[in-house]
Amino acid sequence: MNRETKILIVGAGAFGTSTAYYLAQRGYTSIRVLDRYAPPSCEAASTDISKVIRSDYNEPLYVRLGVEAIKVWESSELYRGLYHVPGWVLSAKERSVPFVKGSIETSRRLGVQGIDEFSRDQVRERFPMINGPLDDWNINVWNPTAGWADSGEALRRLALAAQEKGVSFISGSSGYARRLIISEDGVHCNGVTTEDGTTHYADIVVLATGAWTPSFIDLQGQLIAKGHSVAHIQLSPSEQQHFASMPVLDNLELDYFFPPGPDGVFKLAHSKFLTNTTRDSNSGIQTSIPHTFHDHPADDLPLEIEQAMRRNLSRVLPDLAARPFSYTRLCWDADTPDRHFLITPHPTHKGLFLACGGSAHGFKFMPILGKYIADMLEGTLEEDIARVWRWRPGQEAGTNLAHSDPEVELASLTGWQGGRRRREEGQAGGTSSKI
Ligand SMILES: Cc1cc2nc3c(=O)[nH]c(=O)nc-3n(C[C@H](O)[C@H](O)[C@H](O)COP(=O)(O)OP(=O)(O)OC[C@H]3O[C@@H](n4cnc5c(N)ncnc54)[C@H](O)[C@@H]3O)c2cc1C
Ligand SMILES: *[C@@H]1O[C@H](CO)[C@@H](O)[C@H](O)[C@H]1NC(C)=O
Ligand SMILES: *[C@@H]1O[C@H](CO)[C@@H](O)[C@H](O)[C@H]1NC(C)=O
Repeated sequence: MNRETKILIVGAGAFGTSTAYYLAQRGYTSIRVLDRYAPPSCEAASTDISKVIRSDYNEPLYVRLGVEAIKVWESSELYRGLYHVPGWVLSAKERSVPFVKGSIETSRRLGVQGIDEFSRDQVRERFPMINGPLDDWNINVWNPTAGWADSGEALRRLALAAQEKGVSFISGSSGYARRLIISEDGVHCNGVTTEDGTTHYADIVVLATGAWTPSFIDLQGQLIAKGHSVAHIQLSPSEQQHFASMPVLDNLELDYFFPPGPDGVFKLAHSKFLTNTTRDSNSGIQTSIPHTFHDHPADDLPLEIEQAMRRNLSRVLPDLAARPFSYTRLCWDADTPDRHFLITPHPTHKGLFLACGGSAHGFKFMPILGKYIADMLEGTLEEDIARVWRWRPGQEAGTNLAHSDPEVELASLTGWQGGRRRREEGQAGGTSSKI
């Protein structure tokens, strides 16, 4: 690579945008980023009102990257005002108990201050706004150093900063990549063709297409797109105050809950993920394909999931459990079986690189991840890291994963098709809510 190398990045989420930013910082002068949507892309998993930022991992690599990222979250002018540190309670019912225990041990070993194991009663005493029974919250680890960030705004600012360094962003149908341009001998990747028929030639192409990557090119089972069910509840100003000092509450099996942001929006999310296995009409690949409410605006969360989310919420904050959801989303990220990222050259197409596999934990690294991806592109990524993030079909599933519940096929659930339209029609006659 030299400074004039034509670089094309497909996907402007955390992975793609951070890459563009760091490449521009290193002096590359021809960087083009494509996305279906203008930054911050409304479909990106990265675009959200809150994401957990923490460094307590079982794996020392992510502890190190977490610590490095948090320094930037704390001190960079770019992210000023977006990072909050209320602490978090990490919990589990049974399957994920070993993971929680492991993360206490790692954090203690690494000298994270203030880690403590709480009983249910201690959680309620320490945080009086938590007045539910916490049944099945069987292990509770308090980490006062963990927090969250307004991820959509952070992504917006990073994209703007990249633009100021000369990166060009293209969205709409000429930002929507549909096909790779591969040389006739099958060796080189020379760019991509977009929805509107434009060909974008480039010396190198970086696929940072998040959950859409495995339906775009054949990854031999290395990535599975999973849908996370998310809902918001609008709090009144007095409720907002009541919940203001709530920590992040994350039971890896019984859902997770964020303290309200400045606009009084309370967010909850389900810890069991969805798949939507079908054949992609564009690529012909059979895999789980993101089904989003942006593409399918009449749809809503499956009924079974909404009910489970409300039941889980009633164990923690019963007063909110029957409230109407002001917003719902299926938010898609792609998991690798071992939950390590996939940041690697493609094994056969020269000039093609992958930067994906956020695996439900990738956002927090956005402020620094692009450095590592730029190193990979330049061929200087530390060997130990390159090995972990390499092309690795047939990888073993990790043994001690945060989310180890099996996924559920969207098609096996009910009420999601046309659910939003029905709810809106129903609400015309008054609010309805059920537990
Ligand atoms: C509900 C939820 C909660 C999460 N919570 C956390 C958390 O608390 N902490 C944390 O660190 N991580 C969290 N994660 C994980 C984190 O959000 C992701 O790992 C990370 O954001 C992935 O970034 P990305 O850039 O790979 O993908 P994305 O942010 O999804 O970006 C991919 C982009 O590619 C674009 N794209 C796709 N296909 C094409 C195409 N063909 N042409 C053009 N553009 C295309 C999309 O429009 C999108 O903008 C969570 C994920 C979800 C879904
Ligand atoms: C899966 O998603 C695709 C694309 O959004 C959609 O067309 C299809 O109907 C979905 N399949 C199922 C079974 O829900
Ligand atoms: C809580 O959510 C989990 C998945 O996140 C689900 O398996 C469980 O059934 C829910 N609990 C209740 C009581 O609905």
